[in-house]
Amino acid sequence: MSLEVRVELGARSYPINIGAGLLERVGEFAMSRLPGKRVLLISDETVDRLYGERALRLFRAAGFDIASASVSAGEGSKSVEQLENLYSAAVRAGLDRKSAIVALGGGVVGDLAGFLAASFLRGVRLVQIPTTLLAMVDSAVGGKTGINLPEGKNLVGAFHQPAFVLCDTDLLKSLPARERAAGLAEVIKYGVIRDPDFFRYLETHLDAIQRGESEALSQIIARSCAIKADVVSADEQEAGERAILNFGHTLAHAIENVAGYGAYLHGEAVGIGMVYAARVSVRERGLSQEEAKRIEDLVRRAGLPTAAPELSWPALREAMGVDKKNAEGKLRFVLAERIGQVAFGCSVSDSVLEEIWHAGCE
Ligand SMILES: NC(=O)c1ccc[n+]([C@@H]2O[C@H](COP(=O)([O-])OP(=O)(O)OC[C@H]3O[C@@H](n4cnc5c(N)ncnc54)[C@H](O)[C@@H]3O)[C@@H](O)[C@H]2O)c1
Ligand SMILES: [Zn+2]
Repeated sequence: MSLEVRVELGARSYPINIGAGLLERVGEFAMSRLPGKRVLLISDETVDRLYGERALRLFRAAGFDIASASVSAGEGSKSVEQLENLYSAAVRAGLDRKSAIVALGGGVVGDLAGFLAASFLRGVRLVQIPTTLLAMVDSAVGGKTGINLPEGKNLVGAFHQPAFVLCDTDLLKSLPARERAAGLAEVIKYGVIRDPDFFRYLETHLDAIQRGESEALSQIIARSCAIKADVVSADEQEAGERAILNFGHTLAHAIENVAGYGAYLHGEAVGIGMVYAARVSVRERGLSQEEAKRIEDLVRRAGLPTAAPELSWPALREAMGVDKKNAEGKLRFVLAERIGQVAFGCSVSDSVLEEIWHAGCE
């Protein structure tokens, strides 16, 4: 079984294909979507060891002239230094305006290789082959690419849509359980912001998802991509509506920052952030207690944390204040009215924010 989600962006529209074993067909997709035959494959060392040889062989079998480069695994590779190395690799590989960069890896590789593709020769084609659940449902969709600076995350980047995205659910078999749970946080988020039926599907199919059943995985990846694509198509450059994708993220970014990057995976921080946002929503937006509890229960069952009592509120509050997504320094939250319906730009008083944080830590 394979599913297709189309991202509608006029001339830059592209398909996301999702299913078990799809990597085997990458040559076929590449032949139909890429104008040139020269390709540079980028991955990290972990993914390269697992899938690099196979990907090279498949592209070669389809007649592509493919070179490869890999970076160390981890967030540290989203750097100016690594980008510079990759520019050199792209020159050595002889890429021209018709060539393509293929990102085989998690969000780190997708963001880094994506920015390389956005900037090299003022833009070459990009293929995303995400290998983490987070990358399949989030970073490979939407066109945001970028790298970090010592001063902060994602401070340099560009919007650059891929030619196509291929999600092979078999690649998730090697993904550590903790990384898989982190990806599920974003999946749960899509249910909360847009789709009560999808949220219910997650509640009833969580066991199958956690066993790695490809049918259930394909369904949740396809639905997540469709929701993100829908939100992004309506607001490609992030002027308004796209803000709903930040449900749970105002606090999550602060948690990552205060705990020190790496202590919590992004998805783990999002789990805590969503449980918190749900509680704030009960107070401020009339979300029912029952639905707030369903959100909390699903986050917990997914294997994610729901609170971080070791972190100090003043530090978190200060970190939220410097989030680049806050217009005019005012704290704005995405809050739920019910599961499947959220509002963005909600300002909440400091006393409520603090009280609910402490209540959640008990
Ligand atoms: N562009 C966007 O819209 C967007 C959205 C969300 C997140 N992001 C970015 O994504 C990054 C996080 O992505 P991530 O969570 O995928 O992290 P990641 O790319 O670091 O991958 C996590 C770990 O899993 C390993 N791995 C990857 N695939 C594997 C597989 N199939 N089997 C075994 N191990 C595998 C990697 O080597 C790495 O150690 C962050 O830099 C974040 O800023 C971007
Ligand atoms: Zn996120």
